[in-house]
Amino acid sequence: MMSVLILTLVFLCHSSVDAETTKTTFIVHMDKSSVPGSFDDHLQWYDSSLKSVSQTTNRLYTYSNVIHGYSALLTGEEARLLEERPGVLLVQEDKKYEIHTTRSPEFLGILSSDESFPESGTASDVIIGVLDTGAWPESSSYDDKEVGPVPPGWKGACEASRTFSSSSCNRKLIGARFFSQGYEAAYGPVDETKESRSPRDDDGHGTHTSTTAAGSAVAGASLYGYAAGTARGMAKHARVAAYKVCWLGGCLSSDILMAMDKAIEDGVHILSLSLGGSVSDYFQDSVAIGAFAAASKGILVSCSAGNGGPRPGSLSNVAPWITTVGAGTVDRQFPSYITLGNGKKLTGESLYRGKPLPVSSLVPLVYAGNISQASNGNLCIEGGLIPEKAKGKIILCDRGLNPRAQKGLAVREAGGIGMILANTEAFGEELVADAHFIPSAAVGLAPGNEIKKYVFSDANPTATVAPGGTQLGVQPSPVLAAFSSRGPNSITPEILKPDMIAPGVNILAGWSGKAGPTGLAEDTRHVDYNIASGTSMSCPHVSGLAALVKGAHPEWSPAAIKSALMTTAYSRYKNGERIKDTATGEPSTPFGHGAGHVNPLSALDPGLVYDATTSDYMDFLCAIGYSSRMIKLVAKREYRCKADVKYSVADLNYPSFAVPLETASGPRGGGGSAPTVVEYTRTLTNVGDPATYKVSVSQETDSVKIQVQPGVLSFSAPNEKKAYTVTFAATSMPSGTNSFAHLEWSDGKHTVGSPIVFSWT
Ligand SMILES: *[C@@H]1O[C@H](CO)[C@@H](O)[C@H](O)[C@H]1NC(C)=O
Repeated sequence: MMSVLILTLVFLCHSSVDAETTKTTFIVHMDKSSVPGSFDDHLQWYDSSLKSVSQTTNRLYTYSNVIHGYSALLTGEEARLLEERPGVLLVQEDKKYEIHTTRSPEFLGILSSDESFPESGTASDVIIGVLDTGAWPESSSYDDKEVGPVPPGWKGACEASRTFSSSSCNRKLIGARFFSQGYEAAYGPVDETKESRSPRDDDGHGTHTSTTAAGSAVAGASLYGYAAGTARGMAKHARVAAYKVCWLGGCLSSDILMAMDKAIEDGVHILSLSLGGSVSDYFQDSVAIGAFAAASKGILVSCSAGNGGPRPGSLSNVAPWITTVGAGTVDRQFPSYITLGNGKKLTGESLYRGKPLPVSSLVPLVYAGNISQASNGNLCIEGGLIPEKAKGKIILCDRGLNPRAQKGLAVREAGGIGMILANTEAFGEELVADAHFIPSAAVGLAPGNEIKKYVFSDANPTATVAPGGTQLGVQPSPVLAAFSSRGPNSITPEILKPDMIAPGVNILAGWSGKAGPTGLAEDTRHVDYNIASGTSMSCPHVSGLAALVKGAHPEWSPAAIKSALMTTAYSRYKNGERIKDTATGEPSTPFGHGAGHVNPLSALDPGLVYDATTSDYMDFLCAIGYSSRMIKLVAKREYRCKADVKYSVADLNYPSFAVPLETASGPRGGGGSAPTVVEYTRTLTNVGDPATYKVSVSQETDSVKIQVQPGVLSFSAPNEKKAYTVTFAATSMPSGTNSFAHLEWSDGKHTVGSPIVFSWT
């Protein structure tokens, strides 16, 4: 499915011939503080500015919480003219975002300790807004037997239409809205024969993410018997509000902004966005802007990091006020056993259900690249395989480009009866299980290469594959998923991203009755639960866990909740070894796992937190050199950075440290240059009992001297704040070199950990 697609942000393109007349959606950011006195209200003023460039256009959406402004259909020329009008801050073309496509509760340790989470009362009042493909309200995961009345203060709605009844909402799925105006302006009316023009989820992605965050417990859930057990969301008593913003062709920023605008007004506490676009500066990034408004209102915004890994710098959603989530595995796999003609046995993965291949007799095995005329025939693209050479055989296909399950369709179409799907370098040993259409086994790079060696050297290669069910207790786990997007943060290298990882590989959760388990148009099967992979799946885990923390500590800010999740995350296994990266088989780094893998039980009682307020983020915007116009775009308010203040990103109270360092260059360095010295300040807030914390630092390089002042912090009262500084004195290293360290405050009971990343540029 779409879960491992590399995200791309597509600007809506139009041929230059039509540029004069073709209208596209633009988002118009207004400086509401400069509405002239001659207007009764700001809406009149918006319209007057709009009419001054186009007589025929009306406002599409009007935003009031995330930005001041509106969207409208304009030609490029009209947009340019509008931007010159007084009070217009920015006129921005609509952009396309894409979705980043249950063992996990046990794996996270929240099942055996449900009683630790105060799930009644305040916790069940936590509302998670999910911006996605909508909800399939008939899913048992939205059953509301175990939750009380809709929380007071909820102002949302259940938008009814032909395909979604107002009684589709209940005490679990408390709200459902859809936002299609931006999408329809770009692509024409939603084709109701293909998808519902309503909050109904015809795709499955939105049902999967929202039930992962807050689905009710459903016993006996599985996909074709795989991953059988109780499916439940992380916060099984929290509420879901579905905001459908993603359609068959993607998710448009004008719709996303409006959904966030509404969600803030409706009264959500957590926003979960398993989607992203290519990374752009915060003042041009609708999700970052919407998240800023949400964070200012005390709403935690959890976003997927993207599926662009293992390529460095492949992250999206990197604003410091966003919680950015990468993906790891759980201790579960779905083996598919391969036997080769030479007697060799290898293990892959599959979620195939159907008639198996004969176990006792082997069938001919061929490499797709050898039975195709196309140059990329090895990828098993539909129509690419030569049927005479594929018939009755198992085809060895390479992973990449087209969806994994679609390769099986290409094999079946050519007469092949089985498939072995081999990882290429980019995917390493990462196995993502799919509900294949024919007997299949997806294998890692090493076994894939071994099979190729056999196929290329044997005169009559043969094989068979046999399903192996569900295997639990797989170690090591978690491992970082190869597809999980990696740092460094390309917008602000001084802020480490992703923030953390959570389960995102082979996750079982609710699905749409309208889409097959592979999500392919050709897939006519129906399942109630599906197994999916992607940072789309890890993000709602953190959204749900954040809801649990919020339920236990309703007064905590989004930054405090994020800090609790980060400083208690772990980056080592119980045996002390560092969490591995599937892409390399080597230990992963904070560029892949951030602060580490979430550890929900500890997050409830972190001891200390790194808190941050809106004004800290304003100072951050000053530190990255934003003009007052750019700040106004992000924060909707007038803010002049003070001339006499030396703002530094290093002073943003972030729970991790990213330290870019300059490589000494040229003759000045003379071989032994003086160390670069940088200082970061942080403030800890006590959220536990009175205690004395001592700092300790571990590092792998002696090229940086790390000093923490003071080394001991004593807290005698709740909410007491204490500051410290870290001085990094670094000698020059070759450009492109990275090094990692870890800083930890401990009172003997709590460990408040932060990753440190050094990168020489
Ligand atoms: C099959 O493809 C592989 C890899 O491209 C190549 O090395 C091999 O020679 C091919 N075998 C045949 C019989 O064409």
